Amino acid sequence: MSAKPVEPENPEHPRPIASEGVAPELQWLDDGVPRATAFDDTYFSRAGGLEETRHVFLGGNGLPERFSGRSHFAIAEFGFGTGLNFLTTLNAVRTELAPPHLSFLSFELYPFSKEQLERALAAFPQLSAEASELVGQWAPTPGWNVLRFKAATLILAVGDARQLIGEAHRQEGLSDGIDAWFLDGFSPAKNPQLWELDLLQSAFELTNETGTLATYTSAGWVRRNLQAAGFTVQKQKGFAGKREMVVGWRNPVGTV
Ligand SMILES: C[S@@+](CC[C@H](N)C(=O)[O-])C[C@H]1O[C@@H](n2cnc3c(N)ncnc32)[C@H](O)[C@@H]1O
Repeated sequence: MSAKPVEPENPEHPRPIASEGVAPELQWLDDGVPRATAFDDTYFSRAGGLEETRHVFLGGNGLPERFSGRSHFAIAEFGFGTGLNFLTTLNAVRTELAPPHLSFLSFELYPFSKEQLERALAAFPQLSAEASELVGQWAPTPGWNVLRFKAATLILAVGDARQLIGEAHRQEGLSDGIDAWFLDGFSPAKNPQLWELDLLQSAFELTNETGTLATYTSAGWVRRNLQAAGFTVQKQKGFAGKREMVVGWRNPVGTV
């Protein structure tokens, strides 16, 4: 087997100085987009967070079309952040005529405070119903948290994804594996921890036979780590000004 590509920790962006499980320090940009001081990066695209989620994570995983005919669908995400991806997906599931029950697993090292969450989500009036359901029960504690919604269960793992992922297969609704991955760490140069080969290998092992992935980044070393983990990957047109994003499959297209 050839040498496995792994990006070393970037010395300009060492592990952020914040305590695990504690709310992040945020800067609010003029357009209302939150930026994490420790990672020097924004939580979603300034060109439109909701449209970015729909283009990259839903569209990149063939959603909402793949919800059709399913009674259950499992999605996993690295980086819960503002919850925008979760709420956009919940909104999409609920518009199905016969919605599957969604199990949404998300990992978050620095969960927002309730006030931060409310402020970030106020920018998305289209999601106000789902957002208030989330904010109403938001009280994350370190480790495994289960939040229940009509048509969905959110399994929120508070802590370092690299430490918690080994317990994911034992969580409610995840025993049949993950149908779709939303790889949404901060930019790989600033948050290399969420793009490491070991973590992506664990993600691959959790993925079921027809499982897919999507990510906004097309960084070469991330693609190589995804391939080394076992995924087949392909570049696609990115969101807004971005030329490329990446989608992937556990099994090459047409083999399952
Ligand atoms: C780009 S943001 C995610 C945005 C989010 N998906 C949304 O819908 O708002 C990346 C997130 O990854 C989290 N993160 C960074 N390193 C992590 C780690 N090692 N384990 C778990 N979460 C991590 C950050 O705190 C941040 O919330």
